[in-house]
Amino acid sequence: MQLSKGLIGTPQNRVDGRAKVTGQAQYAAEFDTPDLAFGVVISSSIAKGRIASIEAEAALAVPGVLDVITHKNRPRTAWLDRSFRDEVAPPGSPFRPLYDEEIKYSGQPVALVVAEDFETAVYAASLVDIAYEVETHMTDLDIARREAYVPPKKRGGVKPPPSPTGDAEGAFAQAPVKVHGEYRIAVEHHNPMEMQASTVVYGQDGTLTIHDKTQGAQNSQGYVANVFGLSKDKVRVISPFVGGAFGLCLRPQYQLFLAVLAALELRRSVRVVLTRDQMFTVGYRPMAIQTISLGANPDGKLQSIVHDAVQTTSMFEDYQEAIVNWSNLLYHCDNVKLTYQLAQVDTYTPCDMRAPGAATGVTALETAMDELAYAVGIDPIELRLRNYTETDETEGKSYTSKELRACYQLGAERFGWSKRNPEPRSMREGRELVGWGMATGVWEAMLAKTAARAMLTLDGRLEVSCATADIGTGTYTILTQIAAETMGLRMEDVTAKIGDSSLPRSPVEGGSWTAASAGTAVQKACQSVREQLFKFARQMDSSPLANASIEQVAFAEGEIRLLNDSTARVTFAAAMQAGGVERVEAEEKSSPSFLDAARYSGYTHSAIFAEVKVDEELGVVRVTRIVNAVAAGTILNPKTARSQVMGGVVFGIGMALAEESMLDHNLGRFMNHNFGEYHVPVNADIYDIDVIFVSEHEDKLNPMGIKGLGEIGIVGTAAAIGNAIYHATGKRVREFPITLDKLLE
Ligand code: MOS
Repeated sequence: MQLSKGLIGTPQNRVDGRAKVTGQAQYAAEFDTPDLAFGVVISSSIAKGRIASIEAEAALAVPGVLDVITHKNRPRTAWLDRSFRDEVAPPGSPFRPLYDEEIKYSGQPVALVVAEDFETAVYAASLVDIAYEVETHMTDLDIARREAYVPPKKRGGVKPPPSPTGDAEGAFAQAPVKVHGEYRIAVEHHNPMEMQASTVVYGQDGTLTIHDKTQGAQNSQGYVANVFGLSKDKVRVISPFVGGAFGLCLRPQYQLFLAVLAALELRRSVRVVLTRDQMFTVGYRPMAIQTISLGANPDGKLQSIVHDAVQTTSMFEDYQEAIVNWSNLLYHCDNVKLTYQLAQVDTYTPCDMRAPGAATGVTALETAMDELAYAVGIDPIELRLRNYTETDETEGKSYTSKELRACYQLGAERFGWSKRNPEPRSMREGRELVGWGMATGVWEAMLAKTAARAMLTLDGRLEVSCATADIGTGTYTILTQIAAETMGLRMEDVTAKIGDSSLPRSPVEGGSWTAASAGTAVQKACQSVREQLFKFARQMDSSPLANASIEQVAFAEGEIRLLNDSTARVTFAAAMQAGGVERVEAEEKSSPSFLDAARYSGYTHSAIFAEVKVDEELGVVRVTRIVNAVAAGTILNPKTARSQVMGGVVFGIGMALAEESMLDHNLGRFMNHNFGEYHVPVNADIYDIDVIFVSEHEDKLNPMGIKGLGEIGIVGTAAAIGNAIYHATGKRVREFPITLDKLLE
């Protein structure tokens, strides 16, 4: 089918931009409803033990307080409560708030105080007196790792590392050049601008309309229905705007549970919003300790890769991510051994955070590769090219497309890499040492089964809809572009509706799969509408298109036109009138079985180049320049795409230099639970970020060749910065974030 030219691949402003900057976009905690009550969460002050008593009389005596809900008086939930298929919960026994008196982690919600207004609830919460029986907790991965274990294969887990090939340990022992190191990545917490929030509107007919902050409206709906034993048609979840999520809102978090619990108990509408410090009591990127051994010949050819990772999880769930798998994917090597283990600590369960696994594992691998480049004395890009692989050796499959060579080349050119003197401490500007480093990035290009509907009406307007989310990524905009281009309409004529559980079936927005999945579904639905419309147009009395096939026409400017004679045309409205309809509608699905996707491996690749300036006396690091060259198939909208990669890079700068949730092992608690002490890069920390999209022909993953861009920007970025810091200072820091104390040591 011919597509009318123009929109896909062009930079377009966000269609929701105006609503966002003028404050018209409503977020979960901004929906008002009459008779709304406010719930405030009380968090456990101990990390392990049990609640001995909860005295709520004083709180209940405050005028305006409606209830203090605890494990003792909570209403019943469903009799059979397991995680359900779509909950995005790891294997294990899923955490349910206020389940019983047991405390499993510091910050665990232990009571919800509900009042007529927020301030009263906050005050009353301060009057609740809780006594604990304290047990000994353990939150230190260095101790917990002694009892590390391989996660049992279960639904909700991740693909285990590929089986070993060759004799990695033997080859390492024999290798003429060796590097070996231990790499540590700190715990990071998601810190989106919008706090976790749920406003539950209680309908007198017993229905719940829930404004939830989520990456999957239908996932939250399924969770609520499952946990509370409600029928899905009694629960509608709406989430049109999400103020940042990064994976935290894949899994329903406890504010949703508590708000629903209170609404059902009180039979009225309830809102629960977490505070910023309570944002440190939900999921996080787990701490990981990795060891990597690389053995190579003097020419840099890898002879052995041994990569082990141990990562924290909670005592009750086996949260997993693919940390080490990338090490056999990026480079050719005959002797590879990758192992992955979990270690339990008394914290809440970690959860996915932007490029889960890859952000951790590739950071370590790409640091080790830089060390190897110095050990063999060849350029870091040349080292990667000598070990380049054209096939996915972990699966024995070809790639659908892989323009990583072009990423290295174009990125290096843009950055000016050829002018680099490899000698550490060879560049200086005043009191600052200057360093240049690079790394490779990789992320999966996935497609998840998604449905979408398209509806064209007589007034020439098109509405496309799908239950997916826009977490700031640009989903609204790219769906509008795809629909407008497919249908031959202007973007202004198209409305995209998402973020509502009543819309066509969609998985959570995550894994960078949404553009490909929802985009393909929208395109297919629009194509179905075209076909119906074309049929009507052909059947008109004396239709100028009577003898045409759909390949011979274009849909443009609200008309169907013969390609070789544009005077032969029928307007959409005329076709609909001829067909006797006021609307043309279709629902279609995208599915991963499209084309040969199963026979190939689909990945997005990137090459990241970083310049740092390090104050030699103070250890302060500035990342003054980043070039990120990305090969991600078809770029639907270079403007929103660039923003995605830039956001990922900023995240990577945070991982490299700042972000670290610090546990006080005596208290078993994350102590720096605020923006004063948990540092994320701010505008003043960000200099020049240059994003290049490398041209990549992709025709196997999905019809438009989309690979997704949500995560790739962070992968490799921290390593490139760490490598630049080494080049600047001669100091190799294997523990992220690289804070100034580590440079001054
Ligand atoms: Mo992403 S960590 O799948 O939101």
